[in-house]
Amino acid sequence: MAPSKKTMLFVCLLVATSAMVVPASAQFGLGDLLNFLRIGSIQGILFCSGNGTATVGSNGTIISPPFSNATVQLRCGSGNGTVISTGITSSTGQISIPLNILSFSLSQILSGCRLVVATPLAQCNVTMPSVGTLTSNLIRNGTITIGGINIPILSPIGFTLT
Ligand SMILES: *[C@@H]1O[C@H](CO)[C@@H](O)[C@H](O)[C@H]1NC(C)=O
Ligand SMILES: *[C@@H]1O[C@H](CO)[C@@H](O)[C@H](O)[C@H]1NC(C)=O
Ligand SMILES: *[C@@H]1O[C@H](CO)[C@@H](O)[C@H](O)[C@H]1NC(C)=O
Ligand SMILES: *[C@@H]1O[C@H](CO)[C@@H](O)[C@H](O)[C@H]1NC(C)=O
Ligand SMILES: *[C@@H]1O[C@H](CO)[C@@H](O)[C@H](O)[C@H]1NC(C)=O
Ligand SMILES: *[C@@H]1O[C@H](CO)[C@@H](O)[C@H](O)[C@H]1NC(C)=O
Repeated sequence: MAPSKKTMLFVCLLVATSAMVVPASAQFGLGDLLNFLRIGSIQGILFCSGNGTATVGSNGTIISPPFSNATVQLRCGSGNGTVISTGITSSTGQISIPLNILSFSLSQILSGCRLVVATPLAQCNVTMPSVGTLTSNLIRNGTITIGGINIPILSPIGFTLT
């Protein structure tokens, strides 16, 4: 059966639309796709102090150094929970963990997960406790826009050593 005019028109349209789509998809890169899939981002700063929180001096300046190179895990579920995402703090103590997770919703992460610092505090300062784990629940803390996509930010509510 010879292709009908309708089929030919369809094929022409298909070629025309894919020709239009290709340059657009070249601009919409893998990073954008990951951002699109990203349900959130965990952002915060970890300090080298007894509770991971900034110690502020009498004149208002932060006197605790950052806790750099610490492994920070997002753990979900009861007991020790399951590690579902991990990050390493930067030289300035910055926690930045992208959440490209499809098996958990943001509200499940807020209600059932917490941040756990897997690196003992003693690594940032030998006078700090070598036992115990810094743990914090998470709260919603605004939104950042990456590549035109709004990404919810979660931040630690405040660490405690347990
Ligand atoms: C953290 O500990 C410092 C003292 O080391 C205290 O002043 C501060 O209130 C604590 N912060 C939290 C959130 O517990
Ligand atoms: C604040 O106090 C710290 C020492 O505790 C000192 O190093 C710093 O220079 C002071 N900053 C200001 C602005 O006075
Ligand atoms: C960061 O920590 C890892 C182990 O936790 C260690 O092997 C590495 O040397 C550390 N890097 C720096 C710059 O401290
Ligand atoms: C929880 O983690 C601690 C330290 O890694 C370990 O000793 C303990 O056995 C774990 N508990 C469970 C129930 O897995
Ligand atoms: C380690 O902590 C002690 C007690 O808080 C402090 O005196 C000391 O300056 C800290 N050392 C470093 C390298 O920050
Ligand atoms: C929320 O994010 C801002 C920076 O965007 C930060 O200064 C602030 O400390 C964060 N709040 C918490 C509770 O971490």
